[in-house]
Amino acid sequence: MSTILGRPARLGTGTVSARRSPQTNATVATVVDAPTAVPAGAPVAEAEQFVWAQNWFPVAVVECLDPSRPHPFTLMGKDLVLWRDGAGVWRAFEDACPHRLAPLSEGRVEKDGTLLCAYHAWRFDSSGKCASIPQVESKEAEGRACGSPRSCARVYLTQEAQGLLWVWGESGPTAAADSAAKGPALVPELEELPASRVQALPWFFRDLPYSYDYFVENVTDPAHVNVSHHNVAGNRYAPDQYFTVDPLREVTAAGGFKYQVKSRAPVSNVSTSSTEFLPPSLVKIKVEYKDGAALILSLYSCPTVPGHNRHVGRQILIKTPEGKLPPGLAFFAMPMPTWLAHATASVFLHQDQVFLHQQERIVAGRNATSHTAKYFMPAPSDNMTVAFRTWLGQHAGGGVPYAGGRTLAPIDRSKESLFDTYHTHTAQCAVCKPALGRLQAARSAALVVGVAALAAALLVTGVAAAAKAAAAAAAGAAASDAALAALASLPPLSAGIAAAVGLAAAAAVRVLDGLIGLMHKYEFSHADNH
Ligand code: FES
Ligand SMILES: [Fe+2]
Repeated sequence: MSTILGRPARLGTGTVSARRSPQTNATVATVVDAPTAVPAGAPVAEAEQFVWAQNWFPVAVVECLDPSRPHPFTLMGKDLVLWRDGAGVWRAFEDACPHRLAPLSEGRVEKDGTLLCAYHAWRFDSSGKCASIPQVESKEAEGRACGSPRSCARVYLTQEAQGLLWVWGESGPTAAADSAAKGPALVPELEELPASRVQALPWFFRDLPYSYDYFVENVTDPAHVNVSHHNVAGNRYAPDQYFTVDPLREVTAAGGFKYQVKSRAPVSNVSTSSTEFLPPSLVKIKVEYKDGAALILSLYSCPTVPGHNRHVGRQILIKTPEGKLPPGLAFFAMPMPTWLAHATASVFLHQDQVFLHQQERIVAGRNATSHTAKYFMPAPSDNMTVAFRTWLGQHAGGGVPYAGGRTLAPIDRSKESLFDTYHTHTAQCAVCKPALGRLQAARSAALVVGVAALAAALLVTGVAAAAKAAAAAAAGAAASDAALAALASLPPLSAGIAAAVGLAAAAAVRVLDGLIGLMHKYEFSHADNH
Protein backbone atom coordinates (compact mmCIF):
# COMPACT_ATOMS: atom_id res chain seq x y z
CA MET A 1 0.00 0.00 0.00
CA SER A 2 1.40 3.35 -0.86
CA THR A 3 1.37 5.68 2.10
CA ILE A 4 1.51 9.15 0.66
CA LEU A 5 0.79 11.46 3.54
CA GLY A 6 -2.20 13.65 3.04
CA ARG A 7 -3.07 12.16 -0.34
CA PRO A 8 -5.36 9.18 -0.81
CA ALA A 9 -3.73 6.18 -2.47
CA ARG A 10 -5.98 4.22 -4.78
CA LEU A 11 -5.85 0.51 -4.03
CA GLY A 12 -7.79 -1.40 -6.63
CA THR A 13 -11.33 -0.51 -5.76
CA GLY A 14 -10.60 0.62 -2.20
CA THR A 15 -9.41 4.02 -1.17
CA VAL A 16 -6.99 4.23 1.71
CA SER A 17 -5.28 7.30 2.98
CA ALA A 18 -2.39 7.68 5.33
CA ARG A 19 -2.17 10.44 7.91
CA ARG A 20 -0.08 11.39 10.88
CA SER A 21 -1.58 10.43 14.22
CA PRO A 22 -1.88 13.60 16.31
CA GLN A 23 -0.97 11.58 19.38
CA THR A 24 2.10 9.82 18.04
CA ASN A 25 3.04 11.46 14.74
CA ALA A 26 3.20 7.93 13.26
CA THR A 27 1.79 6.84 9.93
CA VAL A 28 -1.74 5.61 10.55
CA ALA A 29 -3.76 4.07 7.75
CA THR A 30 -7.39 5.05 7.42
CA VAL A 31 -10.00 3.56 5.19
CA VAL A 32 -11.88 6.38 3.57
CA ASP A 33 -14.21 4.26 1.56
CA ALA A 34 -14.71 0.72 2.78
CA PRO A 35 -18.14 -0.66 2.04
CA THR A 36 -18.71 -4.10 3.48
CA ALA A 37 -19.65 -5.37 0.05
CA VAL A 38 -18.96 -4.18 -3.43
CA PRO A 39 -22.21 -2.56 -4.60
CA ALA A 40 -23.89 -4.02 -7.66
CA GLY A 41 -22.95 -2.12 -10.76
CA ALA A 42 -19.86 -0.56 -9.22
CA PRO A 43 -17.05 -0.02 -11.72
CA VAL A 44 -14.95 -2.91 -10.50
CA ALA A 45 -12.52 -4.69 -12.76
CA GLU A 46 -13.15 -8.43 -12.68
CA ALA A 47 -9.44 -9.17 -12.23
CA GLU A 48 -9.34 -7.11 -9.04
CA GLN A 49 -11.88 -9.23 -7.23
CA PHE A 50 -10.91 -12.21 -5.17
CA VAL A 51 -12.97 -15.25 -6.11
CA TRP A 52 -13.17 -17.26 -2.92
CA ALA A 53 -14.23 -20.57 -4.39
CA GLN A 54 -11.38 -20.58 -6.89
CA ASN A 55 -8.68 -21.14 -4.31
CA TRP A 56 -7.03 -23.94 -2.39
CA PHE A 57 -7.99 -24.18 1.28
CA PRO A 58 -5.91 -25.99 3.95
CA VAL A 59 -8.55 -28.18 5.56
CA ALA A 60 -6.47 -30.62 7.60
CA VAL A 61 -3.05 -31.75 8.76
CA VAL A 62 -2.40 -35.03 6.94
CA GLU A 63 -0.52 -36.55 9.90
CA CYS A 64 -3.56 -35.90 12.09
CA LEU A 65 -6.09 -37.62 9.81
CA ASP A 66 -7.07 -41.20 10.59
CA PRO A 67 -7.14 -42.94 7.17
CA SER A 68 -9.32 -45.80 8.40
CA ARG A 69 -12.47 -43.66 8.48
CA PRO A 70 -14.16 -40.77 6.67
CA HIS A 71 -14.09 -37.31 8.24
CA PRO A 72 -16.66 -34.53 7.96
CA PHE A 73 -15.41 -31.03 7.23
CA THR A 74 -17.30 -27.86 6.44
CA LEU A 75 -15.65 -25.44 4.01
CA MET A 76 -17.34 -22.07 3.63
CA GLY A 77 -20.63 -23.60 4.73
CA LYS A 78 -20.37 -26.55 2.33
CA ASP A 79 -20.37 -29.94 4.03
CA LEU A 80 -17.64 -32.24 2.73
CA VAL A 81 -16.35 -35.69 3.55
CA LEU A 82 -12.60 -36.29 3.53
CA TRP A 83 -11.42 -39.86 3.02
CA ARG A 84 -8.35 -41.74 1.85
CA ASP A 85 -8.73 -44.08 -1.12
CA GLY A 86 -7.02 -47.40 -1.82
CA ALA A 87 -4.06 -45.66 -3.46
CA GLY A 88 -3.43 -43.60 -0.32
CA VAL A 89 -4.80 -40.37 -1.82
CA TRP A 90 -7.04 -38.14 0.28
CA ARG A 91 -10.29 -37.24 -1.46
CA ALA A 92 -13.04 -34.73 -0.78
CA PHE A 93 -16.66 -35.28 -1.78
CA GLU A 94 -19.81 -33.40 -0.99
CA ASP A 95 -21.04 -34.97 2.24
CA ALA A 96 -24.24 -36.29 0.73
CA CYS A 97 -24.85 -39.65 -0.89
CA PRO A 98 -26.45 -39.29 -4.32
CA HIS A 99 -29.01 -41.98 -3.42
CA ARG A 100 -31.00 -40.33 -0.62
CA LEU A 101 -28.51 -37.75 0.62
CA ALA A 102 -27.33 -39.51 3.78
CA PRO A 103 -23.97 -38.06 4.91
CA LEU A 104 -21.08 -40.06 3.52
CA SER A 105 -18.98 -39.02 6.51
CA GLU A 106 -21.09 -41.46 8.54
CA GLY A 107 -20.03 -44.23 6.19
CA ARG A 108 -16.96 -46.44 5.98
CA VAL A 109 -13.71 -46.69 4.07
CA GLU A 110 -13.73 -50.25 2.74
CA LYS A 111 -10.82 -52.60 2.09
CA ASP A 112 -11.35 -52.33 -1.67
CA GLY A 113 -10.50 -48.62 -1.45
CA THR A 114 -14.07 -47.38 -1.90
CA LEU A 115 -16.19 -45.15 0.30
CA LEU A 116 -19.34 -46.95 1.40
CA CYS A 117 -22.52 -45.14 2.36
CA ALA A 118 -23.73 -46.59 5.65
CA TYR A 119 -27.41 -46.32 4.71
CA HIS A 120 -27.77 -48.75 1.77
CA ALA A 121 -24.11 -49.65 1.06
CA TRP A 122 -23.67 -47.85 -2.23
CA ARG A 123 -19.93 -47.61 -2.87
CA PHE A 124 -17.96 -44.82 -4.54
CA ASP A 125 -14.51 -44.96 -6.07
CA SER A 126 -11.89 -42.25 -5.81
CA SER A 127 -13.33 -40.38 -8.81
CA GLY A 128 -16.77 -40.23 -7.20
CA LYS A 129 -18.19 -42.82 -9.57
CA CYS A 130 -20.69 -45.20 -8.06
CA ALA A 131 -19.07 -48.65 -7.93
CA SER A 132 -21.81 -50.74 -6.34
CA ILE A 133 -25.56 -50.65 -5.70
CA PRO A 134 -26.53 -53.83 -3.82
CA GLN A 135 -30.30 -53.36 -4.20
CA VAL A 136 -30.64 -53.55 -7.99
CA GLU A 137 -31.71 -56.80 -9.61
CA SER A 138 -28.66 -57.66 -11.73
CA LYS A 139 -25.12 -56.65 -12.65
CA GLU A 140 -26.48 -55.14 -15.86
CA ALA A 141 -28.96 -53.01 -13.95
CA GLU A 142 -26.19 -51.98 -11.58
CA GLY A 143 -23.99 -51.01 -14.54
CA ARG A 144 -26.80 -48.91 -16.00
CA ALA A 145 -27.50 -47.16 -12.68
CA CYS A 146 -23.82 -46.57 -11.96
CA GLY A 147 -23.45 -45.18 -15.47
CA SER A 148 -25.86 -42.37 -14.69
CA PRO A 149 -24.22 -39.09 -13.65
CA ARG A 150 -26.91 -38.90 -10.98
CA SER A 151 -25.27 -41.82 -9.17
CA CYS A 152 -21.94 -40.00 -8.76
CA ALA A 153 -20.69 -38.29 -5.64
CA ARG A 154 -19.84 -34.64 -6.15
CA VAL A 155 -16.05 -34.34 -6.13
CA TYR A 156 -13.88 -31.49 -4.83
CA LEU A 157 -10.28 -31.63 -6.00
CA THR A 158 -7.56 -32.20 -3.42
CA GLN A 159 -3.81 -32.14 -3.10
CA GLU A 160 -1.25 -32.64 -0.35
CA ALA A 161 1.45 -30.01 0.03
CA GLN A 162 3.79 -29.18 2.91
CA GLY A 163 2.01 -31.66 5.16
CA LEU A 164 -1.48 -30.23 4.67
CA LEU A 165 -4.51 -31.48 2.80
CA TRP A 166 -5.79 -28.78 0.47
CA VAL A 167 -9.26 -28.70 -1.09
CA TRP A 168 -10.26 -26.59 -4.08
CA GLY A 169 -13.18 -24.38 -3.15
CA GLU A 170 -15.64 -25.49 -5.81
CA SER A 171 -16.52 -28.56 -7.81
CA GLY A 172 -17.70 -28.63 -11.39
CA PRO A 173 -16.46 -28.85 -14.95
CA THR A 174 -13.97 -25.96 -14.76
CA ALA A 175 -12.44 -26.92 -11.41
CA ALA A 176 -9.65 -29.07 -12.88
CA ALA A 177 -8.36 -26.36 -15.19
CA ASP A 178 -8.86 -23.56 -12.65
CA SER A 179 -7.13 -25.44 -9.84
CA ALA A 180 -4.23 -26.49 -12.05
CA ALA A 181 -3.54 -22.84 -12.82
CA LYS A 182 -3.24 -21.79 -9.19
CA GLY A 183 -1.16 -23.21 -6.37
CA PRO A 184 -1.90 -23.20 -2.66
CA ALA A 185 -0.38 -20.48 -0.45
CA LEU A 186 2.74 -22.30 0.74
CA VAL A 187 5.81 -21.16 2.64
CA PRO A 188 8.44 -20.74 -0.11
CA GLU A 189 11.41 -21.05 2.26
CA LEU A 190 10.56 -24.73 2.68
CA GLU A 191 10.97 -25.26 -1.05
CA GLU A 192 13.91 -22.95 -1.60
CA LEU A 193 16.31 -23.47 1.31
CA PRO A 194 18.41 -26.60 1.78
CA ALA A 195 16.84 -29.03 4.23
CA SER A 196 19.83 -28.61 6.54
CA ARG A 197 18.79 -25.01 7.25
CA VAL A 198 15.14 -25.69 7.95
CA GLN A 199 13.52 -27.20 11.00
CA ALA A 200 9.77 -27.29 10.69
CA LEU A 201 8.01 -28.04 13.97
CA PRO A 202 4.89 -30.23 13.99
CA TRP A 203 1.65 -28.93 12.54
CA PHE A 204 -1.20 -28.13 14.86
CA PHE A 205 -4.88 -27.64 14.11
CA ARG A 206 -7.83 -26.42 16.15
CA ASP A 207 -11.45 -25.54 15.50
CA LEU A 208 -11.93 -22.09 17.02
CA PRO A 209 -15.17 -20.37 18.09
CA TYR A 210 -14.73 -17.24 15.98
CA SER A 211 -14.75 -16.58 12.28
CA TYR A 212 -11.94 -16.66 9.75
CA ASP A 213 -11.74 -12.86 9.52
CA TYR A 214 -11.31 -12.43 13.27
CA PHE A 215 -8.50 -14.97 13.21
CA VAL A 216 -6.69 -13.05 10.44
CA GLU A 217 -7.37 -9.71 12.12
CA ASN A 218 -5.95 -11.05 15.37
CA VAL A 219 -2.73 -12.56 14.03
CA THR A 220 -1.97 -9.48 11.93
CA ASP A 221 -2.16 -7.33 15.06
CA PRO A 222 1.32 -7.19 16.61
CA ALA A 223 0.24 -5.10 19.59
CA HIS A 224 -2.03 -7.68 21.17
CA VAL A 225 0.76 -10.20 21.80
CA ASN A 226 2.22 -8.44 24.83
CA VAL A 227 -1.20 -7.91 26.33
CA SER A 228 -3.32 -10.93 25.46
CA HIS A 229 -0.44 -13.35 25.83
CA HIS A 230 0.80 -11.91 29.14
CA ASN A 231 3.07 -14.35 30.97
CA VAL A 232 3.20 -16.67 27.96
CA ALA A 233 4.62 -14.54 25.15
CA GLY A 234 4.68 -11.03 26.55
CA ASN A 235 4.08 -8.58 29.38
CA ARG A 236 0.93 -6.49 29.42
CA TYR A 237 2.68 -3.98 31.63
CA ALA A 238 5.72 -3.54 29.36
CA PRO A 239 6.61 0.16 29.54
CA ASP A 240 6.93 0.69 25.77
CA GLN A 241 4.36 -0.97 23.52
CA TYR A 242 4.67 1.32 20.54
CA PHE A 243 4.98 -0.33 17.11
CA THR A 244 5.33 1.09 13.67
CA VAL A 245 3.59 -0.97 11.01
CA ASP A 246 4.50 0.10 7.49
CA PRO A 247 3.58 -1.40 4.14
CA LEU A 248 6.03 -3.45 2.12
CA ARG A 249 3.51 -4.53 -0.51
CA GLU A 250 0.31 -2.93 -1.76
CA VAL A 251 -3.03 -4.45 -0.91
CA THR A 252 -4.24 -6.45 -3.90
CA ALA A 253 -7.02 -8.94 -4.42
CA ALA A 254 -4.76 -11.90 -5.16
CA GLY A 255 -1.66 -10.86 -3.26
CA GLY A 256 -3.08 -9.68 0.05
CA PHE A 257 -0.52 -7.43 1.73
CA LYS A 258 2.80 -7.37 3.55
CA TYR A 259 3.89 -5.04 6.33
CA GLN A 260 7.07 -4.41 8.23
CA VAL A 261 6.62 -4.34 11.99
CA LYS A 262 9.04 -2.45 14.20
CA SER A 263 8.93 -2.30 17.95
CA ARG A 264 10.33 0.87 19.51
CA ALA A 265 11.44 -1.20 22.48
CA PRO A 266 14.71 -2.66 21.16
CA VAL A 267 14.66 -6.39 20.43
CA SER A 268 18.23 -7.63 20.44
CA ASN A 269 19.50 -9.56 17.44
CA VAL A 270 16.40 -8.93 15.30
CA SER A 271 17.04 -7.34 11.93
CA THR A 272 13.54 -7.24 10.45
CA SER A 273 10.08 -8.48 11.28
CA SER A 274 7.32 -8.75 8.71
CA THR A 275 3.75 -9.95 8.50
CA GLU A 276 2.30 -11.09 5.21
CA PHE A 277 -1.27 -12.01 4.35
CA LEU A 278 -1.59 -14.35 1.39
CA PRO A 279 -5.25 -14.87 0.52
CA PRO A 280 -7.26 -16.66 1.39
CA SER A 281 -5.70 -18.42 4.35
CA LEU A 282 -2.08 -17.73 5.19
CA VAL A 283 -0.67 -15.19 7.59
CA LYS A 284 3.10 -15.55 7.56
CA ILE A 285 5.02 -13.81 10.31
CA LYS A 286 8.77 -13.79 9.77
CA VAL A 287 11.33 -12.57 12.27
CA GLU A 288 14.80 -12.33 10.76
CA TYR A 289 17.89 -12.19 12.93
CA LYS A 290 21.15 -10.39 12.28
CA ASP A 291 23.08 -13.65 11.97
CA GLY A 292 20.88 -14.95 9.12
CA ALA A 293 18.61 -17.17 11.21
CA ALA A 294 14.86 -16.64 11.13
CA LEU A 295 11.63 -17.70 12.78
CA ILE A 296 8.54 -18.17 10.64
CA LEU A 297 5.04 -18.58 12.00
CA SER A 298 2.83 -20.02 9.29
CA LEU A 299 -0.68 -19.42 10.54
CA TYR A 300 -3.55 -20.58 8.37
CA SER A 301 -7.24 -20.05 8.88
CA CYS A 302 -9.79 -22.04 6.92
CA PRO A 303 -13.32 -20.58 6.85
CA THR A 304 -15.74 -23.26 8.01
CA VAL A 305 -19.06 -21.80 9.14
CA PRO A 306 -19.97 -18.29 10.35
CA GLY A 307 -18.63 -17.83 13.86
CA HIS A 308 -16.00 -20.57 13.58
CA ASN A 309 -12.78 -21.30 11.73
CA ARG A 310 -10.21 -24.02 11.56
CA HIS A 311 -6.74 -22.86 12.44
CA VAL A 312 -3.78 -24.82 11.12
CA GLY A 313 -0.32 -23.63 12.02
CA ARG A 314 3.27 -24.34 12.83
CA GLN A 315 6.61 -22.71 13.55
CA ILE A 316 9.53 -23.02 11.18
CA LEU A 317 13.05 -22.38 12.40
CA ILE A 318 15.53 -21.23 9.77
CA LYS A 319 19.14 -21.82 10.78
CA THR A 320 22.10 -19.63 9.87
CA PRO A 321 24.22 -20.82 6.93
CA GLU A 322 26.52 -22.27 9.61
CA GLY A 323 23.64 -24.27 11.06
CA LYS A 324 22.94 -22.15 14.17
CA LEU A 325 19.37 -21.91 15.44
CA PRO A 326 17.67 -18.55 15.92
CA PRO A 327 18.80 -17.01 19.22
CA GLY A 328 16.70 -18.01 22.20
CA LEU A 329 14.71 -20.53 20.19
CA ALA A 330 16.75 -23.66 20.82
CA PHE A 331 14.07 -24.71 23.31
CA PHE A 332 11.51 -25.01 20.52
CA ALA A 333 13.87 -27.20 18.52
CA MET A 334 14.11 -29.75 21.29
CA PRO A 335 12.35 -33.02 20.56
CA MET A 336 8.83 -33.04 21.94
CA PRO A 337 6.05 -35.53 21.27
CA THR A 338 3.54 -34.06 18.84
CA TRP A 339 0.65 -34.84 21.19
CA LEU A 340 2.34 -32.82 23.95
CA ALA A 341 2.83 -29.85 21.62
CA HIS A 342 -0.85 -30.15 20.67
CA ALA A 343 -2.03 -30.49 24.28
CA THR A 344 -0.16 -27.40 25.44
CA ALA A 345 -1.16 -25.19 22.49
CA SER A 346 -4.34 -24.10 24.29
CA VAL A 347 -2.25 -22.34 26.93
CA PHE A 348 -1.53 -19.76 24.21
CA LEU A 349 -4.69 -20.01 22.12
CA HIS A 350 -7.15 -19.64 24.98
CA GLN A 351 -5.72 -16.27 25.91
CA ASP A 352 -7.54 -14.88 22.84
CA GLN A 353 -10.41 -17.28 22.75
CA VAL A 354 -13.20 -15.68 24.74
CA PHE A 355 -12.86 -12.04 23.77
CA LEU A 356 -12.49 -12.81 20.06
CA HIS A 357 -15.63 -14.94 20.20
CA GLN A 358 -17.54 -12.12 21.86
CA GLN A 359 -15.90 -9.29 19.88
CA GLU A 360 -17.14 -10.74 16.60
CA ARG A 361 -20.71 -10.78 17.85
CA ILE A 362 -20.47 -7.31 19.38
CA VAL A 363 -19.16 -5.93 16.07
CA ALA A 364 -21.97 -7.69 14.21
CA GLY A 365 -24.48 -5.90 16.40
CA ARG A 366 -23.20 -2.40 15.56
CA ASN A 367 -24.66 -0.36 12.74
CA ALA A 368 -22.05 1.18 10.49
CA THR A 369 -21.00 0.77 6.90
CA SER A 370 -17.68 -0.92 7.65
CA HIS A 371 -15.58 -2.47 10.36
CA THR A 372 -13.20 0.44 10.28
CA ALA A 373 -16.09 2.80 10.90
CA LYS A 374 -16.99 0.74 13.95
CA TYR A 375 -13.46 0.73 15.32
CA PHE A 376 -11.43 3.66 16.67
CA MET A 377 -7.79 3.02 15.81
CA PRO A 378 -5.45 5.94 16.56
CA ALA A 379 -2.20 3.91 16.71
CA PRO A 380 -0.17 2.50 13.81
CA SER A 381 -0.25 -0.97 15.34
CA ASP A 382 -3.77 -1.28 13.86
CA ASN A 383 -2.61 -0.58 10.29
CA MET A 384 -2.93 -4.21 9.25
CA THR A 385 -6.45 -4.36 10.66
CA VAL A 386 -7.24 -1.53 8.24
CA ALA A 387 -5.44 -3.32 5.42
CA PHE A 388 -7.21 -6.62 6.03
CA ARG A 389 -10.65 -5.05 6.32
CA THR A 390 -9.87 -3.07 3.16
CA TRP A 391 -8.92 -6.26 1.36
CA LEU A 392 -12.05 -7.99 2.60
CA GLY A 393 -14.39 -5.09 1.93
CA GLN A 394 -12.97 -3.83 -1.34
CA HIS A 395 -11.43 -6.86 -2.97
CA ALA A 396 -13.20 -9.90 -1.55
CA GLY A 397 -16.90 -9.17 -1.63
CA GLY A 398 -17.10 -8.03 1.98
CA GLY A 399 -16.52 -11.45 3.51
CA VAL A 400 -16.56 -15.19 3.10
CA PRO A 401 -19.44 -16.29 0.86
CA TYR A 402 -20.68 -19.03 3.17
CA ALA A 403 -23.24 -21.36 1.65
CA GLY A 404 -26.30 -20.65 3.75
CA GLY A 405 -25.40 -17.04 4.57
CA ARG A 406 -23.47 -15.27 7.30
CA THR A 407 -25.90 -15.53 10.22
CA LEU A 408 -24.03 -15.71 13.52
CA ALA A 409 -25.15 -17.61 16.59
CA PRO A 410 -25.35 -15.37 19.70
CA ILE A 411 -22.56 -15.10 22.27
CA ASP A 412 -21.83 -18.39 23.98
CA ARG A 413 -20.75 -17.86 27.60
CA SER A 414 -20.35 -21.54 28.38
CA LYS A 415 -16.83 -22.40 29.51
CA GLU A 416 -17.60 -25.99 28.62
CA SER A 417 -17.82 -25.15 24.93
CA LEU A 418 -15.43 -22.18 24.64
CA PHE A 419 -12.61 -23.98 26.40
CA ASP A 420 -13.37 -27.42 25.01
CA THR A 421 -10.26 -29.01 23.55
CA TYR A 422 -11.54 -32.55 23.22
CA HIS A 423 -14.11 -32.08 20.46
CA THR A 424 -12.27 -29.21 18.78
CA HIS A 425 -9.01 -31.12 18.53
CA THR A 426 -8.24 -34.32 20.47
CA ALA A 427 -11.11 -36.46 19.20
CA GLN A 428 -10.31 -35.45 15.61
CA CYS A 429 -6.55 -35.91 15.85
CA ALA A 430 -5.01 -39.23 14.85
CA VAL A 431 -1.95 -38.36 16.95
CA CYS A 432 -3.68 -37.17 20.12
CA LYS A 433 -6.57 -39.61 20.37
CA PRO A 434 -4.38 -42.72 20.72
CA ALA A 435 -1.96 -40.75 22.91
CA LEU A 436 -4.89 -39.90 25.21
CA GLY A 437 -5.70 -43.61 25.43
CA ARG A 438 -2.09 -44.35 26.40
CA LEU A 439 -2.10 -41.58 29.02
CA GLN A 440 -5.34 -42.92 30.52
CA ALA A 441 -3.88 -46.43 30.64
CA ALA A 442 -0.70 -45.09 32.24
CA ARG A 443 -2.78 -43.23 34.83
CA SER A 444 -4.70 -46.40 35.73
CA ALA A 445 -1.43 -48.33 36.06
CA ALA A 446 0.15 -45.59 38.18
CA LEU A 447 -2.91 -45.52 40.43
CA VAL A 448 -2.77 -49.29 40.97
CA VAL A 449 0.98 -49.20 41.63
CA GLY A 450 0.61 -46.25 44.00
CA VAL A 451 -2.17 -47.78 46.07
CA ALA A 452 -0.39 -51.15 46.19
CA ALA A 453 2.94 -49.59 47.18
CA LEU A 454 1.45 -47.43 49.94
CA ALA A 455 -0.53 -50.42 51.26
CA ALA A 456 2.65 -52.52 51.21
CA ALA A 457 4.55 -49.78 53.06
CA LEU A 458 1.88 -49.67 55.78
CA LEU A 459 1.73 -53.44 56.01
CA VAL A 460 5.50 -53.91 56.27
CA THR A 461 5.74 -51.14 58.85
CA GLY A 462 2.89 -52.63 60.90
CA VAL A 463 4.29 -56.15 60.79
CA ALA A 464 7.76 -54.94 61.80
CA ALA A 465 6.34 -52.89 64.68
CA ALA A 466 4.30 -55.83 65.91
CA ALA A 467 7.37 -58.08 65.77
CA LYS A 468 9.39 -55.52 67.73
CA ALA A 469 6.67 -55.17 70.34
CA ALA A 470 6.44 -58.95 70.70
CA ALA A 471 10.21 -59.22 71.08
CA ALA A 472 10.26 -56.48 73.72
CA ALA A 473 7.43 -58.14 75.61
CA ALA A 474 9.23 -61.46 75.49
CA ALA A 475 12.28 -59.72 76.97
CA GLY A 476 10.16 -58.70 79.98
CA ALA A 477 9.32 -55.10 79.21
CA ALA A 478 5.99 -53.76 80.33
CA ALA A 479 3.36 -53.92 77.58
CA SER A 480 3.16 -50.13 77.33
CA ASP A 481 6.94 -49.80 77.06
CA ALA A 482 7.05 -52.52 74.39
CA ALA A 483 4.42 -50.73 72.35
CA LEU A 484 6.25 -47.42 72.66
CA ALA A 485 9.53 -49.03 71.63
CA ALA A 486 7.84 -50.55 68.57
CA LEU A 487 6.32 -47.24 67.55
CA ALA A 488 9.58 -45.35 68.06
CA SER A 489 11.62 -47.72 65.91
CA LEU A 490 12.36 -46.84 62.28
CA PRO A 491 10.30 -48.63 59.62
CA PRO A 492 12.26 -51.21 57.65
CA LEU A 493 14.04 -50.12 54.44
CA SER A 494 11.59 -52.08 52.30
CA ALA A 495 8.72 -50.03 53.73
CA GLY A 496 10.56 -46.83 52.89
CA ILE A 497 11.12 -47.98 49.32
CA ALA A 498 7.48 -48.98 48.96
CA ALA A 499 6.37 -45.59 50.33
CA ALA A 500 8.69 -43.78 47.89
CA VAL A 501 7.25 -45.80 45.01
CA GLY A 502 3.76 -44.96 46.21
CA LEU A 503 4.50 -41.24 46.38
CA ALA A 504 6.15 -41.27 42.94
CA ALA A 505 3.10 -43.03 41.53
CA ALA A 506 0.82 -40.44 43.17
CA ALA A 507 2.90 -37.65 41.57
CA ALA A 508 2.67 -39.44 38.22
CA VAL A 509 -1.13 -39.64 38.56
CA ARG A 510 -1.22 -35.92 39.23
CA VAL A 511 0.88 -35.08 36.16
CA LEU A 512 -1.12 -37.46 33.98
CA ASP A 513 -4.37 -35.93 35.27
CA GLY A 514 -3.06 -32.53 34.16
CA LEU A 515 -2.21 -33.75 30.66
CA ILE A 516 -5.44 -35.68 30.28
CA GLY A 517 -7.30 -32.59 31.48
CA LEU A 518 -5.56 -30.38 28.88
CA MET A 519 -6.72 -32.78 26.18
CA HIS A 520 -10.34 -32.26 27.26
CA LYS A 521 -10.64 -28.68 28.48
CA TYR A 522 -8.38 -25.80 29.43
CA GLU A 523 -9.94 -22.85 31.21
CA PHE A 524 -8.28 -19.46 31.20
CA SER A 525 -9.13 -16.07 32.67
CA HIS A 526 -7.21 -12.83 32.27
CA ALA A 527 -8.45 -11.71 35.67
CA ASP A 528 -6.55 -14.60 37.21
CA ASN A 529 -3.41 -14.17 35.07
CA HIS A 530 -1.51 -11.68 37.21
S1 FES B 1 -28.51 -42.90 1.09
FE1 FES B 1 -26.54 -43.63 0.59
S2 FES B 1 -26.86 -45.62 -0.09
FE2 FES B 1 -28.83 -44.88 0.35
FE1 LIG C 1 -3.29 -33.61 18.18
